[in-house]
Amino acid sequence: MMNIKMIAFNDIVDEKNKERPTGHLTPIESGRDIPFVIKRIYYLTRVPENTIRGFHAHRQLEQVLLCLNGKVTISVSTPYEKQMITLNDPAKGLYIGPMVWREMYDFSPGSVLVVLASEHYNEADYIRDYRNYCEIAQEYLKGEPL
Ligand code: TYD
Repeated sequence: MMNIKMIAFNDIVDEKNKERPTGHLTPIESGRDIPFVIKRIYYLTRVPENTIRGFHAHRQLEQVLLCLNGKVTISVSTPYEKQMITLNDPAKGLYIGPMVWREMYDFSPGSVLVVLASEHYNEADYIRDYRNYCEIAQEYLKGEPL
């Protein structure tokens, strides 16, 4: 789907001591593992059951979403396509580029959703009205300037 991809990070399991596992280490390098320079990080925690968040798209912002604990489902859509992706592996990230409508739901208790973003917070980059989004996205998909 347009401007969406999964990114697999290096999931390092140290096997020096086979009897005593020491867990997983996942490095993420800005501009290498992530296809942009990270300017902002934020996270969602303590999200109550049955909460749905998001309901917006971004004009320019690029983001990578990571679920570091528990699970959360992300619905990503354009006027023509829709996909549901469950994040439950701290070594995988969901890249979401510009002009993709997103909703986040089914947060498990204790889930931690981390977002890496290409720009500082800018409300003017948000499109929060779905009908307005569809109009702008249709133009975007024709390759016309926003
Ligand atoms: P919003 O992006 O709408 O959250 P979600 O998509 O998860 O439902 O942001 C919620 C509020 O937090 C909104 O008032 C803007 C504010 N906010 C910041 O101040 N800085 C940030 O980096 C982000 C992402 C949000």
